[in-house]
Amino acid sequence: MSRIPDSFIDDLLGRIDIVDVVNRRVPLKRSGKEYSACCPFHDEKTPSFTVSEQKQFYHCFGCGAHGSAIRFLMEYDGLGFIDSINELAQMAGVDVPREAGESTHPSREKSSPLYELLEQANRYYRRQLREHPGGQKAVAYLKDRGVSGEIAGRFEVGFAPPGWDNLSKTLADVPAQLLLDGGLTSQSDQGSHYDRLRDRITFPIRDSRGRLVGFGGRLLDGDGPKYLNSPETAIFHKGQELYGLYQLQQVQRQPPHIVVVEGYLDVIALAQFGATYAVAALGTALTAEHIRKLYRITQKLVLCFDGDRAGRKAAERSLENLLPHMQEGRQANFLFLPDGDDPDTFIRREGLDGFEAQLAGAEPLSEFLFDHLTQNCDLTTLDGKARLAETAQPWIVKIPDGFFKQLIRKELQQRTGVDLPDREPAVTQSINRRAPDTAQQPSANTSRILRKAFVLLLQEPPLAQQVSTDTLDRLEIRNEPGFALFCQLARYFHSSPEAAIGLFMDQLDNPQDATALARLLRHPTPPGNAAARTEEFNNLLSDLTGAIHRTRGRLGDHRRQRLNELIAKLTSEGLNDEEKAELRQLQEAHRGQSKRAN
Ligand code: UTP
Ligand code: MN
Repeated sequence: MSRIPDSFIDDLLGRIDIVDVVNRRVPLKRSGKEYSACCPFHDEKTPSFTVSEQKQFYHCFGCGAHGSAIRFLMEYDGLGFIDSINELAQMAGVDVPREAGESTHPSREKSSPLYELLEQANRYYRRQLREHPGGQKAVAYLKDRGVSGEIAGRFEVGFAPPGWDNLSKTLADVPAQLLLDGGLTSQSDQGSHYDRLRDRITFPIRDSRGRLVGFGGRLLDGDGPKYLNSPETAIFHKGQELYGLYQLQQVQRQPPHIVVVEGYLDVIALAQFGATYAVAALGTALTAEHIRKLYRITQKLVLCFDGDRAGRKAAERSLENLLPHMQEGRQANFLFLPDGDDPDTFIRREGLDGFEAQLAGAEPLSEFLFDHLTQNCDLTTLDGKARLAETAQPWIVKIPDGFFKQLIRKELQQRTGVDLPDREPAVTQSINRRAPDTAQQPSANTSRILRKAFVLLLQEPPLAQQVSTDTLDRLEIRNEPGFALFCQLARYFHSSPEAAIGLFMDQLDNPQDATALARLLRHPTPPGNAAARTEEFNNLLSDLTGAIHRTRGRLGDHRRQRLNELIAKLTSEGLNDEEKAELRQLQEAHRGQSKRAN
């Protein structure tokens, strides 16, 4: 696939206006320097979705959705990255250049030749299931697995016959390069092209708008991977597509719940038995993109896993990805099938009622989260409780503010007797990526300095040149919220001082980081001329790098020490009422500090 040059993307973002892009889809009202609306990405009655005309990004203070016009189109229109660029280029009336040396097939929205090419291949595969002599074997296999003709038709199941060039010969008038670009053929080391799917049952994969973007192929017998999917192409991105989503929405555009399973045949078997609300990720873990896509369609997800250890591991990965998306009103449940079953075998044996009984008993996310967290904590001991409070913190920080988060905190409090500070530390409220469970709280003073440095850097990105790698190293080892984000931003502007802040936000996964940035971007330009600002920026930096020892020395060492003592005692022998009150007081002081810092 050819690459779009970064310089073109910067230029494109300079030509279009994000306010136009958003306003065509979500009517905006001016509010002060920004525009606002009720957020299209979550349910709300009062607007917390904002679009900055000046800085060209969008951000929702409610759910944390954020990014440039590119990401907005990806999320709102459900476009891939390339299609989103193409759409913006069309608006701006410019052509999308490709970096030299590579293929130059434009993958323009709707007009990509790949969609029609894949339809042709699909028609061929489906015909082979009926007509090719080997198709009998495939039909027998499907029958044996209980797949009805009707459901095979609905999911357009087909057959790629054995042999290296059946499809290529059939599509002889299609340029070889196009077949390769569509993922229909592969290229050997010697440079020859051959059919990718051979002697396999084919499952066409449609995106949510019904366009054919790829195939999955299941081996009938013989060697090779059991399933082979299309490679990533200009129109197929595994991290974005979900198998069965198109068929699901044909039945119901906004279903009350969606069940996420692991396999093609799970989706198909469930649909055959009347559970027409299942989708599967394509052999990858559920990505943030998947989750956003699904929550735009439904409020409730049930993630279905095998009951074995691998299933549990997969569930834990999904749990981590889900947390940042658990906004008001959304639900996520975890379903573990009996060991040895998958949804396919289960529903064939137990029927729709049996399966729906399992769904009804699925574990809510909060329960699964605590099960996971308490795995290694014995809650009958104080030590175990303290451990739980500690391990829970970095997970809870990932949940957006709101009712669900409160619920989890309350639950934690009940289980441990330990009250976490109400607010996350100021400045960025970001979870520190490297050592989450030992993150230090910055002092009010450090927060203020860091915030000033942020504001200056955001106003004047070329200041990033002032940040030496040495300084970055010293800042990064500061295990305090905000520092990692600051360094990330400085590195970004260091390599491309002209780049749009929206593009930086596109890369941020943590909505809290985005919220912190959106707040910082609202600060007015600091006074003074460029030289004065550079000097101030340098002073702030040396304050931050030099402040490490100072802060630790000053920031109530006495208080921290006392806090440690009390916690140690809490975990060993417990606290009397007076000590409990003291602990609470210390926590409150700590909270007050965060508030002032904000
Ligand atoms: P499973 O191995 O659980 O198989 O793969 P399954 O879906 O139950 O398949 P059957 O019932 O044996 O036919 C689950 C999913 O993981 C991906 C596919 O998307 C599959 O549906 N997968 C699996 C691959 O991509 N490649 C493989 O080799 C295996
Ligand atoms: Mn299976």
